[in-house]
Amino acid sequence: MHQENDCIRAMVWQDGVLRLLDQRRLPRQEIWLELDDCAAVADAIRDMVVRGAPAIGITAAYAAVLSARRRHADSPHGWRAAFETDLERLAAARPTAVNLRWAVQRMRAVAAGRKGDPVPALLEAAIALHRQDIAANRRMGELGAALIDAGSGVLTHCNTGSLATGGYGTALGVIRSAWAQRRLTAVYADETRPWLQGARLTAWELVRDGIPVDLLVDGAAAHLMKEGRVQWVVVGSDRIAANGDVANKIGTYAAAVAARHHGVKFMVVAPSSTIDMSTPGGDRIPIEQRPADEVLSLAGQPVAAPGAGAWNPAFDITPAELVDAIVTERGVVQAPDAAGMARLMAEAGSG
Ligand code: MRU
Repeated sequence: MHQENDCIRAMVWQDGVLRLLDQRRLPRQEIWLELDDCAAVADAIRDMVVRGAPAIGITAAYAAVLSARRRHADSPHGWRAAFETDLERLAAARPTAVNLRWAVQRMRAVAAGRKGDPVPALLEAAIALHRQDIAANRRMGELGAALIDAGSGVLTHCNTGSLATGGYGTALGVIRSAWAQRRLTAVYADETRPWLQGARLTAWELVRDGIPVDLLVDGAAAHLMKEGRVQWVVVGSDRIAANGDVANKIGTYAAAVAARHHGVKFMVVAPSSTIDMSTPGGDRIPIEQRPADEVLSLAGQPVAAPGAGAWNPAFDITPAELVDAIVTERGVVQAPDAAGMARLMAEAGSG
């Protein structure tokens, strides 16, 4: 059941098919794709129909159900090898977001050793994972908002809302909660080149919620801070290493450097499924390189001088020392480091 400030879903399991809101078309068109084939879902993840680390993890969980249904129907006794191939393809669709690998591993574990038809158990697990993500976001919303003093302005980067998660959002969930508690005087969103997740998606979500938002070009963020308009930068993450280094949308690192220089606090909001204790530091996180065309064109129109190349890393690494707080559903790690992350993950068991 949707609650206040949470009316958007990026993925819906309905009548045995997975429906994905095509985020490439937003905000101009709201088009739902209906998928019943796991390989098509892997392509949709790679092609940015659905994006955002938790959202692609949940989508992959539903895709595993589609795979098991088809593979088990084709070969009730020999379905596992083809199912595993499908899982590997899903996990490889985008390399930086660890939630994708995490969700695939969850589904692999549910299927392992199961006798008979694996579909009911896998569907139950996917729905549970989806519900748990929304609950985690609600909890993080409360924990993160509590760190923000009344009268603050905030800046966010990329889209971390309902579209990027199971619902409600991570960093955008904190902004929703802080707004509901009347703590915020202003919300700013970087437009977030090249995919414009801020301009197209974050603004769309906030406008629908009646939360005023001002967009700025990514290069204006340092100047915004210099003018004293924001007290917090609040972002999500695609992977947090064991030492607290944070991978997130390209441009996050620049925002963190500028924030520290201007005395603006920097908050990272992510569920524990984003924390990868097997990766010791940010230098070991794979950074997805995306096609040059995404930079050379805008909305399908070429904008660059013909003949120019492009360098297009989709993510960057913000070192832990630039982060003031990592907010998870398990609790908050202030001034994160390896010891703080280990304590967080040990306290509630490493689920
Ligand atoms: O390339 P995207 O749009 O998938 O990148 C998304 C981000 O970088 C988000 O900040 C991150 O996944 C956290 S979403 C809750």
